[in-house]
Amino acid sequence: GGVHPFYGEHQGGIVTPAQDRLHFAAFDVSSTLDRDGLVGLLQDWSAAAVLLTQGLEIGEGGAVGGSDYAPPSDTGEALGLPAAGLTLTFGFGPTLFTDADGVDRFGIADRRPEALAALPRFQGDALQPAWTGGDLAIQACADNPQVAVHAIRNLSRIAFGRASLRWSQLGFGRTSSTTRAQQTPRNLFGFKDGTANLKAEDTALVEEHVWTGSGDGPAWMTGGSYLVTRKIRMIIENWDRVQLQEQESLVGRTKGEGAPLSGGTEFTEPDFSATGATGEPLMPTASHVRLAHPDQNGGARMLRRGYNFVDGNDELGRLDAGLFFISYQRDPADFIAVQRSLAADGLNEYLRHVGSAVFAVPPGARPGGYVGSGLFA
Ligand code: HEM
Repeated sequence: GGVHPFYGEHQGGIVTPAQDRLHFAAFDVSSTLDRDGLVGLLQDWSAAAVLLTQGLEIGEGGAVGGSDYAPPSDTGEALGLPAAGLTLTFGFGPTLFTDADGVDRFGIADRRPEALAALPRFQGDALQPAWTGGDLAIQACADNPQVAVHAIRNLSRIAFGRASLRWSQLGFGRTSSTTRAQQTPRNLFGFKDGTANLKAEDTALVEEHVWTGSGDGPAWMTGGSYLVTRKIRMIIENWDRVQLQEQESLVGRTKGEGAPLSGGTEFTEPDFSATGATGEPLMPTASHVRLAHPDQNGGARMLRRGYNFVDGNDELGRLDAGLFFISYQRDPADFIAVQRSLAADGLNEYLRHVGSAVFAVPPGARPGGYVGSGLFA
């Protein structure tokens, strides 16, 4: 709950304690939008975000205080609800800088950070265009689902004629903790998720691995971050037929406590050199935690901030369920390194990556300014 101010050095929704609910939206800009129009959209989105994050109604007259003869400025479904810890995080996709035809529509192509490029194809990718890419992104996180949905709905409405929804995703349960004060939640495989995540308290690590520093790229990105989303379908019916011991071997941690299989309790560091009676590594070589660990990836780290989803079921009667993976990192190269290592992950038999996107997340807006203003300065 509570109120997270929209203005600040960094955007909210990154090291903010992970809220319980997500509505993530990717947009495509309209073919008629020009540079001034794009700036206007970001200004309008920022002005609305200032109010939404305080739990206030947006626009003249709000939901019911305007003219009886005009549609209300605010759609109204959050009336009476608190801010519920809402954060709104805005990002720019690579296609905003140069579109599919290679055109620099907004005069910003020379300002594209080198780090911001479409992700490479990974082994096993089964990406659907309907869940992939986008010129602009908004991550809305809140402790109340209706508050998150109200925010995306109203921001989409504000964008009418300038940008339209390309895809969006609801998430109902966080799969990461981003501060030590939070209990580690569980993903839909039933395992604790977020144990070894970067935490807000690890300020030096967050500086080093989450925020883009001066000199990393264009100055307008200093204090920002890079956002990767992966819509990962989990084949949970097959997973549910796997023996407990095998489930734990695939993850590399116990299911109950979340302790590494090399021993200890949840927050004990895994010992990759520990071996069992027959000399086999206690942290199996194909286990997820072993392959994703910074030691196996040249020190690459990220702040994970994903959510569980269930989007109904498929025609075979299987839940259309999974993890909407979200990570923030100083450079998408860190995500790429880990995702490449995970090609050997035993969990892959139960996973399918169906969506993917990458966005540059500019630093926070200053009072009176708007998000991403540095890109147009
Ligand atoms: C750790 C599950 C996808 C990166 C973990 C843990 C679980 C888990 C249970 C151990 C607890 C923890 O430290 O959080 C899953 C599931 C996934 C998935 C079910 C897919 C549906 C990914 C992806 C990446 C990733 C796509 C990045 C490319 C990591 C990292 C760790 C981790 C970096 C921490 C490793 C360590 O330092 O010990 N994951 N994960 N995971 N995962 Fe995943």
